Amino acid sequence: YVIGVDLGTSAVKVLLVNSEGEVTAEASEAYPLHQPRSGYSEQDPEDWVRGTLAALSRVVKESGVDPQAIEGISFSGQMHGLVLLDENHRPLRNAILWNDTRTTEECRKIEQVLGEDLLRITKNPALEGFTLPKILWVKEHEPDVFAKAKVFLLPKDYLRYRLTGQIHMDYSDAAGTLLLDVANKKWSSRVLEAFGLEASFCPPLVESHGYVGNLLPEAARETGLSESTRVFAGGADNACGAIGSGILQKGLTMASIGTSGVVLSYEDNKDQDFGGKVHFFNHGKQDAFYAMGVTLGAGYSMSWFKNTFAKDKSYDELLGRVSEVPVGSNGLLFTPYLVGERTPHADAMIRASFIGLDGSHTLDDMARAVMEGITFSLNESIELFRQAGIQVNRIVAIGGGAKNEDWLHMQADIFNAEIVQLANEQGPGMGAAMLAALGCGWFDSLEACAAKFIRYEKTYKPNPERVEQYKKLFEIYKQVYTNTKSLSE
Ligand code: XUL
Repeated sequence: YVIGVDLGTSAVKVLLVNSEGEVTAEASEAYPLHQPRSGYSEQDPEDWVRGTLAALSRVVKESGVDPQAIEGISFSGQMHGLVLLDENHRPLRNAILWNDTRTTEECRKIEQVLGEDLLRITKNPALEGFTLPKILWVKEHEPDVFAKAKVFLLPKDYLRYRLTGQIHMDYSDAAGTLLLDVANKKWSSRVLEAFGLEASFCPPLVESHGYVGNLLPEAARETGLSESTRVFAGGADNACGAIGSGILQKGLTMASIGTSGVVLSYEDNKDQDFGGKVHFFNHGKQDAFYAMGVTLGAGYSMSWFKNTFAKDKSYDELLGRVSEVPVGSNGLLFTPYLVGERTPHADAMIRASFIGLDGSHTLDDMARAVMEGITFSLNESIELFRQAGIQVNRIVAIGGGAKNEDWLHMQADIFNAEIVQLANEQGPGMGAAMLAALGCGWFDSLEACAAKFIRYEKTYKPNPERVEQYKKLFEIYKQVYTNTKSLSE
C-alpha cells in the first residue's frame, strides 16, 4: 500500500491506495480559513498537522491494513502559501495563502527591481498569490517577525517536516515561489540577492518522487503508522492533479474545478515562452513542465453562493434542476471574481457580478449562472492556450466540477472540446499516491504507474448548437470585466 495526502485549502484528504491503484480507505478533515480583512486569506499550520494526523489515524484504523504493509507516503499541497519558520523551525505567524491578495505593491516592486530578468528566470509574472511577494510583505509590514525568519516552506513541505523532521521543497512547488530558476531547476541567486535574502532562507530542492526520510516516532505513534514507512516529497496540487489524471505527455490538458479553477497543459520544452500570460511551472514528473491558467474563485464561488443563498440545501439539491434552465440562465450572467482574478486579468481588485437579474429569476437560474460564469472564466485560459498554438481538443476533468454531469456537459460545450471523466476520480491525492508508488520502486516511470492506476470512464462531447450559443455569451462575458473594472478602483 501507499498513502497520498492532499493538503487542500478547505480540508486535507488522505487516500490509502493498493498496488492495483484502488482506494482501500479514505478520510478527510476540514479546517478553517481566516479572512480577517478583504483580500486576506490565512491558515494556522497547526490545523493542517492536527487534521492530517487525525485523517491518517482514521485511515489506518478503519482499513484494518497492517501498518507494516504501508510502504510509502507522499503529498500534494495547495501551492504558494508562505510558512515562515524561526531558528527552531517553529512557524512565526499564520501561513499567508495562495488566494491572499494583499501584496499588489510588492508585485510592482518585484517587476521594477527585476525587470526582464523576472520572466527570463522565473518564467512567470509577479502575481499576488505567489510566495515572494508575501515574503516581501512580511519584511515590510512585520519587520520583527521577519527578523526571526530563518527558512520558508510551502504548506505541504511544512506538514512533511512535522511528520519527518526533514526540511525540503520539491521543484513543482518551488516553481510557484518566484525564487526558482524554473528551466535550470535551482534557486535563483539573482532574485535572492535583489531582495536581500540569504541562500539558507530557501530549503534544499528535491524531485517530487524523491525519498526524504521516514516517519518520526511520535508521528508513527499518533497515526498508528509504522516508522518503516518511507516518505517521498510530493508536489504542488496542480502537478499532482495532472499526474493523477494522466497528464504526462505533450498534447494532454486537464481542467480542475476545486476551490480554485485550473486549466493545465503538459509541456516538455523548458524554453517554451508564453510571455507570462499563463503560468509556467515544473511538473511533478522529472524534467517536465506545464502551462496553466487559474481562476481564483471557482469552487469557492459555488460554495459562497450556497452558503449565502441556500445554506440548508445540499449541493445535489442546489444543482439538481440546473439542466432544466436553458443555456445562458435566462439572461443572467455571473463573473466569479469574488477574490479578484488571475488568468487572464491578473487583477486582485476586480470583484464579481451578477448581470441581468430579473424579478422572475429563481435560485436555479442563479445556480446555473454561477456554473456558467466559472466555466467561462476557465475558457479564457483555454483561449490563451489556443492562441499560443496548443491544441485543446480533449480535456480530463477533475475536482468538484467533474462530479456533476451537467457541469461536465457544460464544460464540453463552453470549452468546445471533449471532456473525459476518470473512473473513481480522486483529485491530487491520487497523484501523490502515484509519486509514493514510483518512489517505492513499484514502477520505473509515472507513465507505467498511470497505465495501471488510471482508468478513463466516460467522454462528454460538445453539442454543436450549444457550442454556438455559448460562443455568443462568452463574448458578452468577456466585456463584463472591462465594463465593471472601474467599480473596484
Ligand atoms: C495555483 C494556485 C491554486 C492553488 C490551490 O497557482 O494558486 O490552484 O494551488 O490549491
